[in-house]
Amino acid sequence: MRSTHPRRSCLAVPGSSPKMIEKAKGLDADQVFLDLEDACAPLAKPGARKTIVSALNEGGWGSKIRVVRVNDLTTRWTYRDVVEVVEGAGQNLDAIMLPKVQSAAQIHWLDFTLTQIEKTLGFEVGRIGIEAQIEDAAGLINVDSIAAASPRNETIIFGPADFMASINMKSLVIGEQPPGYEIGDAFHYPLMRILMAARAHDLQAIDGPYVQIRNVDGFRVVAGRSAALGFDGKWVLHPGQIAAANQTFNPTQHDYDHAENILDAYRWFTSEAGGRLGAVMLGDEMIDEASRKMALVVSNQGRAAGMRRIDTWSPPVPVNSAS
Ligand code: GLV
Ligand code: MG
Repeated sequence: MRSTHPRRSCLAVPGSSPKMIEKAKGLDADQVFLDLEDACAPLAKPGARKTIVSALNEGGWGSKIRVVRVNDLTTRWTYRDVVEVVEGAGQNLDAIMLPKVQSAAQIHWLDFTLTQIEKTLGFEVGRIGIEAQIEDAAGLINVDSIAAASPRNETIIFGPADFMASINMKSLVIGEQPPGYEIGDAFHYPLMRILMAARAHDLQAIDGPYVQIRNVDGFRVVAGRSAALGFDGKWVLHPGQIAAANQTFNPTQHDYDHAENILDAYRWFTSEAGGRLGAVMLGDEMIDEASRKMALVVSNQGRAAGMRRIDTWSPPVPVNSAS
């Protein structure tokens, strides 16, 4: 995976608001993206490019992933967004987010444009990553080739608002289930489709916004669904959603301890001292090589989040046959 930095919480910040950008620097989000697209009015876009360049160059972002969302390639703004932001602040920027991606060709365009700018300014070629938002039927159908389109790709992002609008889903509440469809999760298919493409191409899978920003419990429910499927993180639109996202995309303490215990027990039982066993009992459960792989995922997530084990497994004490 090109980028292993956690992206549990990806904070959206309007590129036209110096005040909100300044505030974002001190928040606990894993990623911040400064928006030139939908959070930025058309007349504010040229000024926002300059605001973003200054904010990136001023620093103070700590270990956050610094991303700029440009406008989509059907607009007249995209090339100027990329050229101004990357020429102005390319060395203080980790990735460009391209919204409403419909085909691999759009990722190729961004990749070539970034390379041109990097070569012209003497930046390291290929360092700046790409985040691709999937927001309509064409994007979803082409998501495999989009995910494969560039070694710069780092994430595939689901954009529920534009997606719901583009497929005529009958709901006006972004990220919530459409009334009338009570038998399942209306987002299961696009989420799974995106997750498969991301995993097949070793990218992070990110869920999009939940707009009822005061309803943190609602956020936890929606975030919990994509986290349960295997997504790596979710957008946050308000500081109040950040802690909930970070918690939801971390393993629980119980799961983290359990994963570390499976790894230790499996390592011991498969060793000479443990009897060179392949499938063994850990408490009431049988563990084998597949259990080890599943445990490794949870262990890596917990370690990346700085978790510490509380409940520790120890090898069985040998029975002393002489006594
Ligand atoms: C985000 O861009 C969305 O459309 O949900
Ligand atoms: Mg959108």
